[in-house]
Amino acid sequence: MNIILVGPPGAGKGTQARHLVETRNMIQLSTGDMLREARDSGSEMGQVVADVMARGDLVTDEIVIGLIRERLEGDKKGGFIFDGFPRTLAQAVALGELLESVGEKLDAVIELRVRDEALVARITGRSTCGNCGEVYHDVTAPQPADGKCAICGASDFKRRADDNETSLMNRLMEYYKKTSPLLGYYFAHGLLKRVDGLADIKVVQASIAAALDN
Ligand code: AP5
Repeated sequence: MNIILVGPPGAGKGTQARHLVETRNMIQLSTGDMLREARDSGSEMGQVVADVMARGDLVTDEIVIGLIRERLEGDKKGGFIFDGFPRTLAQAVALGELLESVGEKLDAVIELRVRDEALVARITGRSTCGNCGEVYHDVTAPQPADGKCAICGASDFKRRADDNETSLMNRLMEYYKKTSPLLGYYFAHGLLKRVDGLADIKVVQASIAAALDN
């Protein structure tokens, strides 16, 4: 099963993708994570995208489509979770073509619906484990009291450079201008399923499971 998780910044795409990886042996393809890796490695492409990401603008379609293309070959396990991709109509069309070229198709698009007001608190309270990427939140999913990641035991936690209110407002603007039209596109393809992303993390997990299993 190949699925897309779509929603504004902070909707919970990464949190839910990690759960699907654990429970359904799926492969998470997060273009945000891939771009941050490129940026941190100091590669030529990483240097190009660093400022764009810090501002909260979208990276070019050409770059992100290239990143996804590289990952679709090889073992597909329980299927792909596209997290943060596609974000434009051009990316959506390219994804359809790429999947077809490897004999796959898209099975569902899960929209995580969250009120804009809730996103600021989610984004400004987020941290992740620098080793395994587990996602925490200062209030709703706090780091363990012993200062060690509950999953891998590392004690190196990170906050993202674009997790501030100014970048968030730009990321939100990009979402509404360029990504939200994809909801209509996938509805028309009969693939869109909507989930209440404001509910407790475990309730959201259950809603996604129900949407996928129906
Ligand atoms: P990306 O990394 O994809 O960021 P994003 O879309 O802004 O989404 P986030 O990762 O911020 O949020 P999320 O929905 O994953 O939420 P999370 O689960 O962490 O992209 C970053 C940048 O890269 C872009 O701005 C762009 O520049 C570039 N880029 C990436 N892909 C691109 C593309 N395809 N095209 C062009 N450019 C691209 O949760 C957030 C917080 O909330 C966490 O602390 C979590 O613990 C908490 N939380 C989650 N669920 C719940 C819940 N149900 N209840 C309470 N708290 C919750």
